[in-house]
Amino acid sequence: MRVLAVDQNSHGSGSTADFIDTLSSFSRLHRAQRWEGTFGDFLATILPANPAALARSSHEYIWDMLRWHGRAAAPDATDNQRARELFKRELFGIDEPLGRVVDYFKAAAAGSDVGRRLLLLLGPPSGGKSTLAILLKRGLEEYSRTDEGALYAIRGSPLRENPLNLIPTSLRAEFRERYGVSVQGELSPWARDFVEREFEGDFIRVPVERVFLAEASRVGIGTYAPHDPTTADIADLVGSVDLAKVAQIGDEGDPRAWSWSGAVYAASRGVLEMIEILKVKREFLYLLLTLTQEKNVKVSRFPLIHLDETILAHTNLAEFHKFLQEKENEALLDRMVIIKIPYAFSYRDESRIYQKLVSGAPAFRNVHLDPHVLNLAAVFSILTRLVKPEREGLDVPKKLRLYAGEAVEGVPESEASRLHAESPEEGMTGVSPRFVINAISNAITRGNTHSLTSMELLLALKDAIESDARMDAKQKKGWIDHLVTARKEFYNRWVKEDVHRAMFASFEAEAQQLLEKYLDEVEASLDHRQVTDPITGESRAADERFLRSVEEKIKVSDSGKLSFRQEVVRKAMVAFKAGEKFKLASHARMREAIEQYLFEERRDVLRLVTSTARPDDDARQKISVVQQRLVTEYGYDEHSAKEALSYVTTLLAQE
Ligand SMILES: Nc1ncnc2c1ncn2[C@@H]1O[C@H](COP(=O)(O)OP(=O)(O)OP(=O)(O)O)[C@@H](O)[C@H]1O
Ligand SMILES: [Mg+2]
Repeated sequence: MRVLAVDQNSHGSGSTADFIDTLSSFSRLHRAQRWEGTFGDFLATILPANPAALARSSHEYIWDMLRWHGRAAAPDATDNQRARELFKRELFGIDEPLGRVVDYFKAAAAGSDVGRRLLLLLGPPSGGKSTLAILLKRGLEEYSRTDEGALYAIRGSPLRENPLNLIPTSLRAEFRERYGVSVQGELSPWARDFVEREFEGDFIRVPVERVFLAEASRVGIGTYAPHDPTTADIADLVGSVDLAKVAQIGDEGDPRAWSWSGAVYAASRGVLEMIEILKVKREFLYLLLTLTQEKNVKVSRFPLIHLDETILAHTNLAEFHKFLQEKENEALLDRMVIIKIPYAFSYRDESRIYQKLVSGAPAFRNVHLDPHVLNLAAVFSILTRLVKPEREGLDVPKKLRLYAGEAVEGVPESEASRLHAESPEEGMTGVSPRFVINAISNAITRGNTHSLTSMELLLALKDAIESDARMDAKQKKGWIDHLVTARKEFYNRWVKEDVHRAMFASFEAEAQQLLEKYLDEVEASLDHRQVTDPITGESRAADERFLRSVEEKIKVSDSGKLSFRQEVVRKAMVAFKAGEKFKLASHARMREAIEQYLFEERRDVLRLVTSTARPDDDARQKISVVQQRLVTEYGYDEHSAKEALSYVTTLLAQE
């Protein structure tokens, strides 16, 4: 059963003290990890342990960070799978695009040319782009606190530049020979001035410290979001002359008189997140592309400033199409690696997204959702995202089930990936998770309810579609049709199954018994054997009527029955050889047949029980048992169980 009522204070007794303990050990650890010394100390004590780690570029650092987060993955996992783990904690159903993102970092870390192109995530609204960026940023922060992720910088440098940059060019070849790694970076104008002014060029005495990446303090993580383009100033990215300091220092060209507060400096050694990148002025874009390509920026007064950082940009489709319209942008696109982040395709993954969003939202606290609410909403969403398959015998609902890994009659499972490859634009349009969650929360707030059923969900979605000002009439109608499909092709089946099952004291056991009986009879019939009746001990021929009545439930034809039976027996043999019991769950069609058979048997009971206007005590007793089972075993609450029961009765009356 889904329980949404989470008691916020239920961490057990003494929880406050425990928590404070955790906090203080965290802070102790943090202090212990600190390190400060001169560059000479750094060379003597820190560097020798792992020179390669200390000479990493930001791309290499991110790639190592991703694999570090995946260290608990299965031993035979590939590097790529391992590196996806960080994202998979919160992003569902977009494994393939995540794989591509991870590949980008892998290639960039290996020194491939892609590292010189800007990474642009392109996707529909509320499709997880910002979440991906957040996970990456949090992942970096955490990693920088570990031994493996230790980062060092020249103390006081606004760019937190790698202390190895202090090694003069003329000595770098020797350094490489000694430590096996080469130094890539150049000192910034700030550091050059610092070394000269404070240490008369004696760089061995320059102070070095360990740094911890933190977005909040603008250390190694920068974020830039375009605001009003008319007032946006390139200084937000690269800084400007600080007039107050010029007055103090007296020289505009002094690096100390420059304000190093731009986002590209904050991001130095780590990542720069560019939100809605295509909305920025072209001048900004050139700067960023040069930064990725050449690893430097040019500002007035100073020679090129070397910067080591990774740019992670995102944008939505509308903005992207607008951008494509302008011819002169083509050259810019060439310098980006564009990765599409579509919506999820499997309704099960989509439903997990809702589950995540719902369990974090106050509006849903203490609200019971019937067991199909989120799945049904997810089915609707996926229907709006899919392209109609061109293939004979396939429609959108069937495609949807294939994408969710469900068996579809007459279609091999491998078809899913082929269909997917046929429509590369799929998943870039349709309903967003946010739309669905908003519709549900509106229904809950407005109805001031503590229980939401699947039918109420459909109404809420219908309402949301009808009152959406951005959609035209045709699209609205299309989406409402999808609601109807979701109800007819999915919900009806699910709810009927629940109610039917709830009519049995022990549905699974009865179904298993029936399956075994079916197998016995089939084997006898295939081998032309007699069946021995367990009670009377008499022999008789296989019960063909029983076999057919099961098979007819799933429309196995007379001419097709033999191959169907052989296939079932073969599967049963496979299970038997593997030392397992042949279970209904392992054969989708058999399962459906057996369920239908059992339901058919009880159907009249249900009719009788629920159709009488004034049920007698006996009927009422039967209803209440079924309702109770729906609550205790199938995840309903009282309200939704009652609704489900009366809904299924109506369905039966129409059949
Ligand atoms: N595939 C997914 N898996 C898990 N959660 C998702 C997924 N897609 C979206 N979400 C959730 O939906 C919400 C919106 O996503 P997010 O803000 O990351 O989207 P976005 O692509 O940045 O959208 P926008 O273009 O509107 O900025 C977030 O709470 C996010 O966790
Ligand atoms: Mg976003």
